[in-house]
Amino acid sequence: MAEKILLTGGAGYIGSHTYVALIDAGYEVTILDNFTNANRSVVDRLEQLTGKPVSIAEADIRDATTLAGLFAEHQFDAVVHFAALKAVGESVERPLDYFDVNISGLINLLRVMDAAGCRRIVFSSSATVYGVPDETPTPETAEFRAMNPYGQTKISGEQILNQLVAADERWKVGILRYFNPAGAHDSALIGEDPRDIPNNLMPYIAKVAAGELAELQVFGDDYDTPDGTGVRDYIHVVDLAKGHVLSLAALLGEGQGHLVNLGTGEGHSVLEVVSAYKRASNRDVPYRITERRAGDVPVYVARADKAEEVLGFRTEHTLDQMCASSWKWITGPHSQEDPGPEGNA
Ligand code: NAD
Ligand code: UD1
Repeated sequence: MAEKILLTGGAGYIGSHTYVALIDAGYEVTILDNFTNANRSVVDRLEQLTGKPVSIAEADIRDATTLAGLFAEHQFDAVVHFAALKAVGESVERPLDYFDVNISGLINLLRVMDAAGCRRIVFSSSATVYGVPDETPTPETAEFRAMNPYGQTKISGEQILNQLVAADERWKVGILRYFNPAGAHDSALIGEDPRDIPNNLMPYIAKVAAGELAELQVFGDDYDTPDGTGVRDYIHVVDLAKGHVLSLAALLGEGQGHLVNLGTGEGHSVLEVVSAYKRASNRDVPYRITERRAGDVPVYVARADKAEEVLGFRTEHTLDQMCASSWKWITGPHSQEDPGPEGNA
């Protein structure tokens, strides 16, 4: 019988791609999402993509009663936990909301899981836990450095999970530290499309290429990098989704807990991403060099060997493919729909 998975935040950007990968891998999946950062139409599109009805609960991760009811109904074997708030700037302005959803929400979920006897969880962490790392490519052994309340919530989440495992070995935990997710599903049915002005590079460039924004501001060209602009390890969201399937298989199979970076191990500068996007879209991407962005890190690149060793994880998609799929999504039929509150679909 297929194993049953609860996918929190499954209507969001990474969660929706992971939903498709989990269904393809034969799991029975229920999504829990409160749609604060997702569009309800994503459910229809997931049905279109998978050819199956979507099991979905519209609920808040902090709502223990609803969660307990879901566990009683479905007898989940494991949880993949995406539901969180993720905007760095907003976390500086409203830290309590971030602590509430990202930390209290996690604790609430863990309590309900424990009571239901479901003790396997994949947790969405981030390269942001490294702050400004001493070493690049950055290994998982690098120390925690919180740069802002959002980063603090990811560090706290990891620590809570580690202490839970130390207290009770029945817990099996997969911690995945994502580098910079980019791109979209090749069907152009799901992707990332913020309604407001995007903070992240690729969605911003997409809107410039589409003519919705006039120009890209390149935040600084005086970093100690080959062309002076910031370097990141961009990872295709479909590769990232596959990482969750492997993580889950390790937890459900051998019961092997793990902590791994999910990145490609390769860095690209802002100007390289601009060039790649121009090639993919066949559009111009005007840009202007401006001041450095406060709190920015010069280089984030993953040491990617541990994920390969422990999970057999290897990325398959290139930066050009991330740009091409982003462009296909941005110009596809669903780009005309009214997006959700922040617009992810
Ligand atoms: P997203 O905002 O698209 O997805 C998060 C989903 O969680 C949304 O659908 C939202 O509606 C839902 N959600 C938010 N608060 C909720 C609550 N209280 N109860 C129930 N559902 C709630 O974000 P994403 O980019 O898909 O990120 C998913 C996870 O990965 C997050 O934990 C994020 O911190 C982490 N992460 C993201 C990135 C990135 O660059 N996108 C990088 C590193 C880590
Ligand atoms: C940001 C967050 C980080 C989060 C990550 C993924 C900050 C300070 N950090 O990281 O915590 O984990 O997103 O969601 O917000 N750039 C431009 N012009 C732009 C936008 C970005 O030049 O308009 C540059 C940045 O300076 C950086 C690179 O592009 O060098 C990537 O930026 P971005 O996509 O925002 O990701 P991160 O900075 O890695």
